[in-house]
Formats: sequence, C-alpha cells, structure tokens
Amino acid sequence: MTLFDDLKRTRTEEDVKDAYIKALGLKGYSKNLVDIQTEEIWFEAKDAPKPSIEMFAQLLFYIRAARRRGEAVPAFLVVIDRAKAAIMSTEKALPLLDDRTIVWPKSGSGAGAELAAQIAPYVQTHIVEYEIAHDEDAFIRAIKDAIREHRIIRTSITPDNLRQVFDRWVDLIGNELGVANPSDLAVLFFADIMHDGDREAMNNLPARLLMTASGPTFLLNGQTYELASKRGYNNFWAIYHRPPEQKHRHYLLERRDSLLPVDEQKFKGAYYTPLHIVDKAYDQILATLGPNWQDRYLVWDMCAGVGNLEAKHSNLRNVFMSTLDQADVTIMKSNPAFAGAEIFQYDYLNDDVTDFGQIDYALSGKVPQALQQAIADAREGKKGAKPILVLINPPYAESGSGIARGDENKIGVEKTRINGWMREMKLGYASKELFAQFLIRIRQELPKATLAMFSTLKYVNAPNFEPFRTAWKAEYLSGFVVHSRSFDGLKGEFPIGFLIWDQANKEPISDIATTVLDRRGALIGEKTYVVRPTSSLLNAWIPSPKARGELALPLSNALTPSKNPRKKRSFEGALGHLFASNNDLQNATTGTCLTSSIYTGRNGGGVFVSPDNLASAAVVFAVRRLIKPTWLNDRDQFLQPTQPLSDEFKSDCLVWMLFNGGNLTAGADGLHWNDQDWSLTNHFIPFTEAQVGVAGRFESDFMVRRLQNTALSAEAQAVLDEGLKLWRRFHAIQFPRKIREELKLGRPDAGWYQIRRALDAYGDAELTDFEPFKRAYAALSAKLRPMVFELGFLPK
Ligand SMILES: C[S@@+](CC[C@H](N)C(=O)[O-])C[C@H]1O[C@@H](n2cnc3c(N)ncnc32)[C@H](O)[C@@H]1O
Repeated sequence: MTLFDDLKRTRTEEDVKDAYIKALGLKGYSKNLVDIQTEEIWFEAKDAPKPSIEMFAQLLFYIRAARRRGEAVPAFLVVIDRAKAAIMSTEKALPLLDDRTIVWPKSGSGAGAELAAQIAPYVQTHIVEYEIAHDEDAFIRAIKDAIREHRIIRTSITPDNLRQVFDRWVDLIGNELGVANPSDLAVLFFADIMHDGDREAMNNLPARLLMTASGPTFLLNGQTYELASKRGYNNFWAIYHRPPEQKHRHYLLERRDSLLPVDEQKFKGAYYTPLHIVDKAYDQILATLGPNWQDRYLVWDMCAGVGNLEAKHSNLRNVFMSTLDQADVTIMKSNPAFAGAEIFQYDYLNDDVTDFGQIDYALSGKVPQALQQAIADAREGKKGAKPILVLINPPYAESGSGIARGDENKIGVEKTRINGWMREMKLGYASKELFAQFLIRIRQELPKATLAMFSTLKYVNAPNFEPFRTAWKAEYLSGFVVHSRSFDGLKGEFPIGFLIWDQANKEPISDIATTVLDRRGALIGEKTYVVRPTSSLLNAWIPSPKARGELALPLSNALTPSKNPRKKRSFEGALGHLFASNNDLQNATTGTCLTSSIYTGRNGGGVFVSPDNLASAAVVFAVRRLIKPTWLNDRDQFLQPTQPLSDEFKSDCLVWMLFNGGNLTAGADGLHWNDQDWSLTNHFIPFTEAQVGVAGRFESDFMVRRLQNTALSAEAQAVLDEGLKLWRRFHAIQFPRKIREELKLGRPDAGWYQIRRALDAYGDAELTDFEPFKRAYAALSAKLRPMVFELGFLPK
C-alpha cells in the first residue's frame, strides 16, 4: 500500500503521522512537542491543509528554543499533511534565529500566520514542496537520503556553557579514561575540544589527542589513556561542535584551573536542586540574558545551601553566595568548584532588616563591601555598573494552620523580620511563606535586579496570593516548569517553576508561557499559566443565596452527620448543597460533591442548590470533576466561562452530575445530630415511582418534572436509560438487613449514592453488571471533557 493510499484512510492527525512513519520506515523517533522527532529530521504534522510556511514557522520556533538550550538540532525540517509535504534545510534558516528584527511569539502554539509572514521572505525559496499524489517516490527518497547523511547541527562550546559541557564530557568521556588524578581531567578535556576530529587546532597544550586506528587516544605526562567504551565519545561529539571558535579559545583555556569534576555527594544539602535541573536553568538563563551573561552580570544567591545553583557557573569571580547555616558555608568554602566566589553566612530574612522597611548593612556587618557597592551602583544605575542577577531556590516552609495548633516550630518559621514588614503591608496569607518573604526583601533591596527563581507557582496564580501580587510586580521574561519529583524531599506531584523576571519593569503579573520538562529534564511540552483576578474565578460565578432558616443538618458524607461542624443556617426551598472547595484542579475531584443537606468538610465552602441555580450548580459540579488532575495542571484555576453555554451543555452537565460518584444526595431517616433526629429528602431522582417499580411514594418529584421540560442529547438520554435499569434493579432486590441499615434504605427515595453502594455490596450474593451504564457514562464524559477547555473553564 502506498503512502498516498494510507493517507486517504486517515481520520486524525495521529493517523497522518503514523502513515508517514510507516512509509518512511522511521526508527528511533519520538512524538512530543515536535510532532515527530528524529535526530536528523523534525516533522510538523497537520490533518487539515495549512500553508507550509506557517508549519515551518512553528518548527523554527522549536529549533530556536532548542538552540538556546544548547541542544543539537536536525539538519532538515519537514512539514506533512494528508496531501502534501515540504522539506527545508535547517541551515538556511539559522541566520533568522538571531535576527533581532523578528518578533517571536511566547509559545510554539502562538507561531502562526504572523511569524510566517516575517520569515517567508528569507526561507520561502529554500522550501521544496511535494504533492504526495504525484511526488510520493521523490519525497520518500529525499527523506531517506537525509537520514542516511546523518547530518545534525551541533552546539558550540562557549564561555557560557563551559562548565556544563565539561560536566557532560566527564560523564560521557572522562570517566571512560581511567584517570587517577581528577585534576588531569580538565587538561584532557581541553586536548579533546581543541581538536577538530582530524588534527589539533591548538599547539602546546599539556595533553594531546591522537586519532589512532583503535580510536581516540590521549597522551599526558608520558602516559596514554584509551577509552574503555567509545559509545559516550560518539554521543558527546554528535552534540557539540569542535573546536570552539577562535575568539573564545584563550578565555576558555584560562578557566581550566576551575574545572574539577563535580562530586555529586557534595551537592546534597537540604532540599537541594538536582544538578541536571540546574543545567537546564543555565540554558534558560543563557537563552534569556544572551551570550556572555556570566561576564556581564553579578550573581547573588542568598539562600545558597551548599551551592547547587552555582555549580554550573564558569566564572565564579562574579558570584556571591550566602546562606543561613554556618555548616553549609563551611562546605561551600571547602569546595574547589567555588574558588573565587565570595561566600558568607547571612540570614536573609532577619539580618540587617530594620523596623522601618529599610536595609542597613551596618547592623550585621556581614555583607561584603564589594557586594554592598554593587548593590548601590546597580540601584543608582551608575554607568558601567554590572547588573545583578538574583539566582535562588528559596526555602518553602510556611506556618499555615500550624499556628492554631500551637506548633512552636512553625511559628518560628513565620516570625522573621520580613514577615513583620509584610504584615504591615497587609499582604495576607503570602506573609507566612518564606519564599514570598525573600521576594519582598529582594524587591526592596535590589529593585532593578533580574530574578531567576525556582519555586512553586503560587505567587503567580494562587488566589490567596492576590494581595501579594498587588505589591510584587515584574516583567516575566521566560521560564520552564519541571516535575516536583525531580527534587529531593518534596511530597506530592506538582510543577516547580524556574521563572526569570525583570524587576525593573514593574508590570502586574499576567499569563505566563513556560516550557515543560519531565523529571529527567527532558522537554515534553509547553504550558501557559493564566492569572486572573479572584472575582473572575469559577468559585465566584454562582451567587450564594443568603440562608436565614433554622440550623441545617451538617454532613461529613452522604448519610453521616459531622462530628465537629461549623454551624450554618438552612435555606428555604433548597434542594441540596453543592460543596466546591478551593478553586484549583488539585482540589476539584476530592473537593466537589452534591449532598442533601450542608456538607461541612475542609474549608466549609459551598452553595445551597435551588431550582434557580440548579443549572449553574450542575455546570460547576461537572466542570470541576471532568478533568483529571495531573502534576502539570493541578494548580490551574477554574475560570468563569468565556463562551455562552448552550442548553444542551447545561442539560448534559445536569445528567452527568446526577450519575456521578460525587452525587451524594440521599433519602434517609434516623440521622442524629444536635440532640435531634433528622431526615434527608431526595430531590434528585430523575425517574417516577412507576418507572422504577417502587411501591411507596417519593417525597419529591422535582427532578422528574425538571427533566420533562428539558430536551436531552442522545448521550445524556443513554445515561438515563442505563441508569433507570440500575434503579429498577435496586428496587427489585430485597437487601439484607446489614446493607439496609448501613445505607439507611428505609425510604423509597434512596439516592444514586445509596443505589450504587447497595448494588455493590450485594455483589457477594448476586453481581450487578454496571458495564453498559459505565459505557454510556464514559461517552457523555468524552463529549463534555473538551468543552471544559473550549468554553473557557480551564486554560487550553
Ligand atoms: C530549597 S534550599 C536550596 C538550596 C540550594 N540553593 C539549592 O538550590 O540546592 C533553601 C536554602 O535556604 C536556606 N535558608 C533558609 N532560610 C534562610 C534565610 N533566612 N536566609 C538564608 N538562607 C536561608 C536553607 O538553609 C537552604 O539551604
């Protein structure tokens, strides 16, 4: 079968990719941010036709990002769709990547017609197009030739990546040489990089590299070193280009003495940043601040621990490192990797902090004169003064509810002098967080500094950091997020950001586009975190009717009164209660339920559900529970819809809610609370007594009447039909006493929660086949899920 025939059968973009992969016999490819990625070629695929130049624009965006991260890029770029394909040599576009007149979008998905129009004049003539119907053979031949050539574009070795390149060289090559003295490695490294693969590019180096029949051989002090395995050697030199450019060679050689192999053990302080992620941070800084940044900027890390963030810096004379614990200071001072840096003990949240919102270095006398001068010069904008880069991974502790529980340690955490400032500034919850305290002092002390910081994303988008964001403003330059599991000692799975900010531009914090790294540091995607005022979040969407009735029965589950509840009044005419806790995805699955009286778990939030707000309540319920939280999205905030909601969407959500596991509504007698007996009335039964075959009467027929006047989609109707079968089965069974008592089945109006549970528990005697229901429910869920994003409830 030809590629052309295969393409005719494709239905989705995925099918299109697979057809090309098969026809081209691609091996060793990956499908990530770049649709199909091999070492030699990157492919951008679309199922519907789109101008080739726009697809190349997107690929060039990724090429530019990869180059800035110091990664190798392929020799060819290819765009494919159902009918046509086009090839371009990457080399032809390289000059564009550094062209300052081109305006690049913030994310790859933003690379469209606008970028295409800018690049077209430069690259259009280098694009070769193929109509698959006519040119299939020529296209396949061209691609196979390109792969056979195995051409890739390598990364140069420069002063900016010297330390990173050396560490990688030790890993892949140095460790294979069996060198006894670690300080010889730097000498051998220079022999290797100052060689063009055929001959030496620099004479008079203390070590030499000879290309012999048995492979590369190193000579040093009369001794020869051969590689135990050549695999790493080939790998390394497939990524980097040698020798370095003439203009850098002497500078690089001068740095030789500072290059000692890293002893990873020395970098395992408390909550340290892993070095492979520090490596990515340095790529990000280079991409953002530009070449030679290690020379142009002074770096201050004021919570340096044992110095992980400086381990990849190649020019320590421009680095200041301070930290709280003297023991860490001693470790840093004894580490030869930091020779030349200024290292000192300093408590950044207390030392030199006056009660009047000022910093007075005379108080502690700890800050080196050179740093004091640099801070003063940078602040005044003195001509020739080096700008300051604050590079930090600050501590994360917070006091939280520990204070109410009398947790002495945590009180200690909170009560710093900067916390005092923040309480005066009325910055609310953020005042308790140590990392936010760092930001507030930095803002005061180094108001024009560039800030590059590892931390959670709370300060960017958490609603309880809104007061903080009114005070802390900066221009976002760039950043990545990485899986929390790459960090030692962090519990849970969430994104840790490494974000770079220009504090000199005091802009309100708005949406930020980041790249996404997995725990190994590999690039796997892009993600935008949206920042909205709390008034436009979903939890402010449904007005909460004022409750003025008697005390309401507080529940901690469908049928269980709370033990120690916040007491609340009931609302006349309420059908039930929608509990919706914090507004982010992380809390949505476990923090959303519908009950027949108030639910008082967690933060006690929620609204009474009445006939008037039922439709909106069902939408909120469904939207919050439809999307599975992942480590990457779980701090995303739910937003109010940006599109009008159709009647079909609303009724789909209502049916989805009625048959969801979070629907805990019930009909039950005999609940005991506050020295009284209580009953629950179920207003959420979508069927009549006759339909389900029950002898008694339901106390409420609200939902049946509601649905009679509602047009239902085929998917919602299928769920109702399958649900009815289960409801009927429930009423046909004589449940044993244990199940009846446990689920309070004394009334006819049992709810979905009781029915599911009872049929499940009865499984010992007779199994219920839930599969047809599950299939119908899965189909309705699949229909609704993409709409959560399309209607604007969550950022795409
Ligand atoms: C998350 S660790 C990061 C350590 C190191 N920079 C890294 O990235 O691996 C935070 C560091 O801040 C230090 N620290 C905590 N409170 C501090 C304070 N008030 N002043 C300075 N350093 C502090 C801790 O001792 C710890 O070493």
